[in-house]
Amino acid sequence: MDTIITDDIKANITSLTSELKEKAGDKIVLLLVSGGVDSTVAAALLLKALPPSQVHLMYMDTGLMRKNETAQVKEFLKKFGAENLHIVMCEKEFLAALKGINDPEQKRKTIGDLFIRIQEREVQALNLNPDYFLAQGTIRADLIESGQNAGKKANIIKSHHNVASPLVDAKRKEGRILEPLRSLYKDQVRELGALLGVDQEVLKRHPFPGPGLAVRIVGEISKEKCDILREADHIFISELKSRKGPTGKCLYDEIWQAFAVLLPVRSVGIKGSPGEEQRKYGWVLALRAITSADGMSAEVYPLPSKDLLEISALITNSVQDIGRVCYDISGKPPATIEWE
Ligand code: XMP
Repeated sequence: MDTIITDDIKANITSLTSELKEKAGDKIVLLLVSGGVDSTVAAALLLKALPPSQVHLMYMDTGLMRKNETAQVKEFLKKFGAENLHIVMCEKEFLAALKGINDPEQKRKTIGDLFIRIQEREVQALNLNPDYFLAQGTIRADLIESGQNAGKKANIIKSHHNVASPLVDAKRKEGRILEPLRSLYKDQVRELGALLGVDQEVLKRHPFPGPGLAVRIVGEISKEKCDILREADHIFISELKSRKGPTGKCLYDEIWQAFAVLLPVRSVGIKGSPGEEQRKYGWVLALRAITSADGMSAEVYPLPSKDLLEISALITNSVQDIGRVCYDISGKPPATIEWE
């Protein structure tokens, strides 16, 4: 992938901001933020280009997010001067809709449909002047993957991105869509973000799937399972951030994507101090860490066994409901990156 030099990106900031100013004029711009790299950089760019009072940011907490994610998004956007920040808490609605659903594609569809429904409802509740612009953090790869560009086939293994929704379609027809990052590759988005002052912590974040933890809890989802997975995943990721890899960089930065997966399996273990041991029936957790260029294929990251053993012990000692930890050693193909 081409990395463009900083001077070009600097020039880009100027042209992207003046283009945004010119297109939006004095109209309200509503950006849908997910907390990922792209929409965060888009938010930073909008807040640089336009007066904060003109920019509305909407973020939905589906209850399928990682630990502390919503608080971090809020803090970050405030730091960038966001004045109109709409955080929609909809965990209950998502968990209710997902009750009893086991099939991965059914989960994706349920989440995608509900996401669109709640988004439309919440946008309507804002009562914005109908001539507002809708902004998205779409980047070049999204357009390619969704089949809107370059003739590449949309992913047929899993239904991935939601570049389109009735709201987006309607705004596109009106010519009121702003996608300031649409010509940029991921590396360029990161470079742009760095120049705008976005934290490296955000820019280096591993990809996170739209359906969130729902595709990392194999089988039926519950709040309890989300909480268990959130805690275990947080320990895994924090450890990767604090441990160094063979090249001296932290493990997290050497890995393209890492996460924990909660399996629908419980196994027998032991709890209690010596002499007072009891049988314990705990969930099995899988850890996954891969390297990849673009997520289309992936290799397993060979995590040093010392780190694996210590991280496993940390997880089973701190998350009572987890009794056993495994490391996923399958590449893509034949496996996919996510378990569902
Ligand atoms: P797979 O599991 O297909 O993942 O090998 C490839 C990359 O895509 C992410 N992924 C998703 N992203 N919605 C998304 O926005 C999805 O439904 C979805 N499923 C997988 C995955 O995390 C990996 O980076």
